[in-house]
Amino acid sequence: MNFKTIIEPFRIKTIEPIRQTTTEHRAAAIKKAHYNIFQLEAEDVLIDLLTDSGTGSMSVFQWAGMMKGDESYAGGRSFRAFVKSVKEITGFRHVMPTHQGRAAEHIISRALLRPGSIVPNNTHFDTTRANVEHCGAVALNLPIAEARDPQAIHPFKGNMDVAALEHVLRKHAGEVPLVMITVTNNSAGGQPVSMDNIRRTSELCRTHGVPFFIDACRFAENAWFIKTREPGYADKTPLEIAQEMFRLSDGCTMSAKKDGMANIGGFLAMNDDALALTCRNSLILTEGFPTYGGLAGYDLEAIAVGLYEALDPDYLRYRVRSVEYIAEKMIAAGIPIVRPPGGHALYIDAGSWLSHIPRNQYPGWALSVALYVVGGIRACEIGSVMFGRQPDGSERAADLELVRLAIPRRVYTQSHMDYVAEVLLHMNTVAKQIRGVRIVEQPAELRHFTAKFELLLQ
Ligand code: F0G
Repeated sequence: MNFKTIIEPFRIKTIEPIRQTTTEHRAAAIKKAHYNIFQLEAEDVLIDLLTDSGTGSMSVFQWAGMMKGDESYAGGRSFRAFVKSVKEITGFRHVMPTHQGRAAEHIISRALLRPGSIVPNNTHFDTTRANVEHCGAVALNLPIAEARDPQAIHPFKGNMDVAALEHVLRKHAGEVPLVMITVTNNSAGGQPVSMDNIRRTSELCRTHGVPFFIDACRFAENAWFIKTREPGYADKTPLEIAQEMFRLSDGCTMSAKKDGMANIGGFLAMNDDALALTCRNSLILTEGFPTYGGLAGYDLEAIAVGLYEALDPDYLRYRVRSVEYIAEKMIAAGIPIVRPPGGHALYIDAGSWLSHIPRNQYPGWALSVALYVVGGIRACEIGSVMFGRQPDGSERAADLELVRLAIPRRVYTQSHMDYVAEVLLHMNTVAKQIRGVRIVEQPAELRHFTAKFELLLQ
């Protein structure tokens, strides 16, 4: 018999209680947080879908690995275990641990970018964009046209627009020192990138002599989508697919807080010896000695094990299914979401769901506040608050006003997902009552983390 229920492929050994809260309590908490969900106390949240980054549960094997952590300053055994895993999966010659993904982005950006440089990416994540712009370079998003339409169905909606990339590489020859591709494409809905698209991007970069790096945070989920959606890959393992993806590139930045299944960590890896030397010197300056980066020996052990657990087919099947499960309920209820659902998160199209809220009153942000007050669910706006402020201080609406419900790895069960779906279905009946927000205070960069807001009454 093949039973159709996909069970969580683990049992729970350690639990963390969730504190029940009331609507009144949450209304007071969010007011105190200046209507910014990043400023809440986490105990005031029932289901925390703010991010899938560093929020996963580790396995017994990872915890056991941590007990073996070698905390030597230089040449530790844990570093070798870490490098062995990373090299086996990615094949890169040089592997540098960093405290998280953005540190790897910072180091590679500093090494390669100059003021005026252009960095194409299918879609930059916010920290990648900020690191590129911090060097005075231009972060250019080149997603395929379908990515801009939340309703367009495409198996690899995260793909790079290869024709547009070719145009940029020709027109701006000499000004593009780095091309990146983000798998899965987080800011465009957690959508996968096909092997064919990675290959064509890679060939183009090689023709033009430009280094091609993968932003690999969710490489295992991307490998699963390739396995299940791209012709010719059904019989390959996620590991084999990941290896093929990395072989097409010259290096990667990685946040091990995602598909490293760890609570902290990341790495920068590459083949080029001279570039690695520059990066390693920078690593020493900002992260630490090259055999620990910004991490403890035990973190390196957790990542060494976690990278393989992320590639386990049973885990990946359950993971992708959890997101699909809520997505099906949303689609049936007519709640607009980015389709097809992504790998790590459900993306609600707040721009169309709350079309009565003007873009300059941030419908996505308003929805994230309402979701918290009504259901205690913390979700994250990926829209004009996150991306609307330009480097020169002006405002421009983001392509889409999305709200992301990111699912932490191995943390919530199906009943938690049922609760989230129930809250969203209820919200559908009160959506038109939600009002916009106004920013009252904001920093110059990455404003969504700390900006203060007011609720608008009209
Ligand atoms: N690239 C992508 C695609 C990401 O999603 C993230 C982080 C990073 C780079 C940076 O990694 O956090 O380890 O420094 N994304 C988290 C998120 C924060 O919630 O999507 P980091």
